[in-house]
Amino acid sequence: VFRAQRFRFSEEPGLGEEGAMLEVRVPQVLHLQYGMYVWPCAVVLAQYLWFHRRSLPGKAILEIGAGVSLPGIVAAKCGTEVTLSDSSELPHCLEVCQQSCQMNNLPQVHVVGLTWGHLSLDLLALPPQDIILAADVFFEPEDFEDILTTVYFLMQKNPKVQLWSTYQVRSADWSLEALIYKWDMKCVHIPLVSFDADKEDIAESALPGRHTVEMLVISFAKDSL
Ligand SMILES: C[S@@+](CC[C@H](N)C(=O)[O-])C[C@H]1O[C@@H](n2cnc3c(N)ncnc32)[C@H](O)[C@@H]1O
Repeated sequence: VFRAQRFRFSEEPGLGEEGAMLEVRVPQVLHLQYGMYVWPCAVVLAQYLWFHRRSLPGKAILEIGAGVSLPGIVAAKCGTEVTLSDSSELPHCLEVCQQSCQMNNLPQVHVVGLTWGHLSLDLLALPPQDIILAADVFFEPEDFEDILTTVYFLMQKNPKVQLWSTYQVRSADWSLEALIYKWDMKCVHIPLVSFDADKEDIAESALPGRHTVEMLVISFAKDSL
């Protein structure tokens, strides 16, 4: 079962002027794979990109664990050079990344298979990235270190790369913070209110609903040296 879901990002118009608006559509597939529909985290991260859209043009952006790729699609529409990725072992998820690009008329967006923690030819071939997007990838603690290994590898190519990530608070297990320090990274929590995401209905979508989602910016601890 396939249907398209619409997201409409807008800003409050100022006095006497039209507000900016962006409408994107992504597929929603009824499927057991996690990557086939939009998670609450994806909408919050997409809103963060939309809020910061003026600083994005020209940046190289990689989305990991992208699934239907709402944040990556918004980034591409805001003038960035986007690569979408999902596990190389999940071809359905990579297909859904492609479908999202087609539905939004973005033939220039690359789609590659990147499995967290795997040093693959596709990962080696990636050019330096400015921003890595990760919506709802920190849900299985046994994957956390694999994700950070991939991010660490990309930090070697560009020590200034930032990981923009949203996670859904589901349990009190908080082993991520300790791993971030172990991997020489630092982490800043961004309040949702600071980018208009402190609401149940973002981009006219009824998401994130009542889920608790947090926004993190993770970077190399020594990026200022
Ligand atoms: C909870 S879904 C989130 C999907 C999307 N980012 C969103 O927020 O709507 C987790 C995503 O991680 C991908 N994934 C799971 N294990 C992975 C792995 N080992 N390497 C790369 N991607 C993986 C899944 O295919 C899925 O797309």
